[in-house]
Amino acid sequence: MHAKETSLSIRSTDCSEQPDRYKEEGTQCLDQNSPQGGHYRPCGQSTLISMVHRLIDQVARYDTNVLILGESGTGKELVARNIHELSSRTDKPFVPVNCGAIPAELIESELFGHEKGAFTGAITARKGRFEIAEGGTLFLDEIGDMDLAMQVKLLRVLQERSFERVGGNETRRCNVRIIAATHRDLEKRIAKGTFREDLYYRLSVFPIDTPALRDRIEDLPELIEQMADRSLRTGHPRIRFSRTAMTSLARFSWPGNVRELANLIERLAITHPRSTIELQDLPAKYRSQHSAEIDMALKVQDPPSVPGTVRSMDLPQDGLDLKDYLRTIERRLIRQALGETHGVVAQAARLLHLRRTTLVEKMRKYQVSARA
Ligand SMILES: Nc1ncnc2c1ncn2[C@@H]1O[C@H](COP(=O)(O)OP(=O)(O)OP(=O)(O)O)[C@@H](O)[C@H]1O
Ligand SMILES: [Mg+2]
Repeated sequence: MHAKETSLSIRSTDCSEQPDRYKEEGTQCLDQNSPQGGHYRPCGQSTLISMVHRLIDQVARYDTNVLILGESGTGKELVARNIHELSSRTDKPFVPVNCGAIPAELIESELFGHEKGAFTGAITARKGRFEIAEGGTLFLDEIGDMDLAMQVKLLRVLQERSFERVGGNETRRCNVRIIAATHRDLEKRIAKGTFREDLYYRLSVFPIDTPALRDRIEDLPELIEQMADRSLRTGHPRIRFSRTAMTSLARFSWPGNVRELANLIERLAITHPRSTIELQDLPAKYRSQHSAEIDMALKVQDPPSVPGTVRSMDLPQDGLDLKDYLRTIERRLIRQALGETHGVVAQAARLLHLRRTTLVEKMRKYQVSARA
């Protein structure tokens, strides 16, 4: 589900030519109140993310290699950018390389460059990522997907701080800080023999774990707030969430983490350009298995204007007439939708995900008028 790094064009030679996905999407926190934290500061106040902030602050000023570990979409690249911007290398390039997206036969020349005529198609000499990142930071993303032959070559550069272009003899020195990231379990890969242990120890001098969103769910409102602001900046309408919708989101397990959340917010800002997203506006999977319970909670919060509503989430001791109860809920939601859309039946039908004619039929059945 994740759009992999698209900002890296395998063929381009100058990183200033590449669109910066982060700048384009306005990803950074832009937290003007904490300039010390930086624009790329991962947002949140939870204990887990505060620990990440602390580690970033501790390591930023040193040239130590950093290994960022964490599930997909947890903000590994954001952390790498934050470290770079807080380091003394901030005025030099931050160069991301998605090691998993570059074919094995191209990665060597991608990282180290090549001389003219080094291989078929090498019609001019070309700088590699190490040279482009000179003085700055090289972000080796998805390092767990790098093939073994390339791991050996990388290890040599990390040890000797020098390399040769493909097809070249000249040894070039490099001054580049290395930050690597992966969502893979590198220790398992080492055990399987697909990741070199010596490279692992070189890279993981300072490991940082980016926590899964489900483990720091208390950060959800702040993240949503930031993403809603981002949507606004990219021209989408501002959206908010009702309390029940927020509760439902907080119960979701977020396998795609913050990236999935960002995608959901963007999607909702397009499909529901209204101010408040209600529980029923969320795509089904975000309503989770507790949605009925939350739905009931919603009823409890409503004003007692509709007679006959059960005002408890539990089945009453002496049972209830389910059909009658569901009719009551249906009538209530229809009236609510008509109220919110000022009696415009077509809009109310859209809110309820019904055809207009179906809604008109139900209104007749329940004797609800548009302007009730
Ligand atoms: N703590 C956070 N605060 C604000 N935005 C965040 C945070 N964590 C992640 N994001 C946003 O979520 C998206 C994914 O983040 P990022 O690309 O850094 O994750 P990743 O761990 O590198 O993901 P992948 O493994 O899929 O490459 C980005 O748009 C990023 O801005
Ligand atoms: Mg990434």
